Amino acid sequence: MKNLPHPIQYQGSKRNLAPLILPYFPKKVKRLVEPFSGTAAISIAAAARNISQVFWINDLNKPLIELLQLIVEHPEDIADAYTKIWYEQHHDSIEHYYHIREQFNRTQDPKFFLYLLARCVKGSVRYNSEGLFNQSPDKRRKGTCPETMRRNIVGMSRLLQGKCYFSSLDYQSLFHQIDRDDVVYMDPPYQGVCGDRDSRYYAGIVFPEFVNALAELNNKHIVFLISYDGRKGAKTYGETLPESLQLKKIELEAGRSTQATLLGREEITIESLYLSSALLCQSSQPSTIAYIKPKGEQFILLETYEQYPAIT
Ligand SMILES: C[S@@+](CC[C@H](N)C(=O)[O-])C[C@H]1O[C@@H](n2cnc3c(N)ncnc32)[C@H](O)[C@@H]1O
Repeated sequence: MKNLPHPIQYQGSKRNLAPLILPYFPKKVKRLVEPFSGTAAISIAAAARNISQVFWINDLNKPLIELLQLIVEHPEDIADAYTKIWYEQHHDSIEHYYHIREQFNRTQDPKFFLYLLARCVKGSVRYNSEGLFNQSPDKRRKGTCPETMRRNIVGMSRLLQGKCYFSSLDYQSLFHQIDRDDVVYMDPPYQGVCGDRDSRYYAGIVFPEFVNALAELNNKHIVFLISYDGRKGAKTYGETLPESLQLKKIELEAGRSTQATLLGREEITIESLYLSSALLCQSSQPSTIAYIKPKGEQFILLETYEQYPAIT
C-alpha cells in the first residue's frame, strides 16, 4: 500500500490512513462512491486491492474533479502539461507561481491547479472569501519533479481508467442518486460548522444538515463509512456524530506529529471512523485496530490553522 501512486498533494488526504480504513469495507463492493473525494486516496487504495471495479468520484471542487478526470483518462496529456509548466519556473520560481495562480483563478484550468498543489505550502489549499485560491508558494521546494509526477499520474490512471464516473455535485444532490448496492465512503471537511467558513476547502458542510442527510441514508439501508472527528493530544476536532444515527465509532491511531516528537512531546493523532448500521449488519468487522506510524511525514489534516496572505 505504501507505494501507491498519488499525483496530488492535498490537505487532509487519507493516503496514509487508507490501510487502516479499508479493512472495515465489505470485501467486495459493486460501486464505491466518494462524495467528498479530495484526491480520491481511498478509491486509489480500493482499486489497488481489487475491492471494487466501479468508482464514483465526486467533490464540489470542480477543478479538482476535472484534474482527477484528466489524470485517469488522459495521463500523458496532463503529465506533459505539468512538465511544461514546471520547467518554465526556473528563472524566478516564486514569480512563476504567482503568475500560474493568477491564471488558475481566472480560468479554473485544472492543469494550473496541479502545479499549484505540487508547489504550494505543504499541499494545503487555501481559499479567500470569494473562492479564489490564495495559498502561497513553498519557498524551499520547487514541487514534485516532472518524472516523479508522470510516474504517479500513469500509475493512478492504470488503477482507475475505464472504471470511474466523475462529478462535482454538492453531497446532498449526490445522496439522492445513491442506491442499495453502493458503498459510500465519506471524508467531509469537519469545520464549516454553524456557518463558519473553512478556508481550507473550496466549500464546507453544515453539521445539522449533514446529520439529517445521514439519517436518510440509514432509512434507505445504505452501507456507508465516515471519517469525521478526531483528536490530537488533548485537543479535539469536529463534533461527534449523534447516537441517534446508530453508527459504530472506531478510533484509528493516525500517528505522531513530527513537530511534537521534535519538541519531545507525545502527541498522538486519533481519527474517528464511523460505520453505518447497514454495514454492521452485512459484514464481520475486524476486532482489533491496527496502528500506523508514518515515517518522516507529518499529518497535515489536524494542523493548526495558519493565516496566509490574501491575494489582491
Ligand atoms: C477532507 S477533504 C477529503 C480528502 C480525501 N479523503 C482525500 O483523501 O484526499 C474534504 C473534501 O470535501 C469537499 N467538499 C466540501 N464541501 C463539499 C460539499 N458540500 N459537497 C461535496 N464535497 C465537498 C472539499 O472540496 C474537500 O476536497
